[in-house]
Amino acid sequence: MFKVGVLTASDKGSKGLREDISGKRIKEIMEENGFEILSTTIVEDDKEKIKKELMYMADELKVDLILTTGGTGFSKRDVTPEATLEVVDRLAMGISYAILNKSLEKTSHAMLSRAVSGIRNDTLIINLPGSPRAVEESLEVILKALPHGLEILT
Ligand code: MTE
Repeated sequence: MFKVGVLTASDKGSKGLREDISGKRIKEIMEENGFEILSTTIVEDDKEKIKKELMYMADELKVDLILTTGGTGFSKRDVTPEATLEVVDRLAMGISYAILNKSLEKTSHAMLSRAVSGIRNDTLIINLPGSPRAVEESLEVILKALPHGLEILT
């Protein structure tokens, strides 16, 4: 069973001012599809804090997959892609392109996500946008191909 870490980047969520619905949706959907969730965390939109959590999940928890949600847009506080790019050693942009491609069929606002995907050692990291709907739409696109990718990686 593949192990997954879920990281929500949200200033409001980290302070308890907003419920982490997207993180919970990711957990539900991944469990329904046979993945094991090892950790779900909320951190504020701070590049160093996001990097630290990504490295902890990859290097200490040794999860196969990290799904982030939030912080991919154009606001100055949105730094999840930058944090991700600083901790991965290889890009896996096909995943992000696939999500973008399908999402654009649903909403032109999908182009406002700067999400990236990449690999740190044996861990695949995928950015998803912040809304529950975006999370559902994005996971629907990648779930079929994901197990094969993770098998090759580990
Ligand atoms: N992708 C999908 N599939 N569905 C959506 O509703 N919302 C978009 C986009 N991607 C959306 C989506 C919007 S409105 C924004 S602003 C960006 O994701 C960035 O979201 P984030 O800053 O919460 O990560």
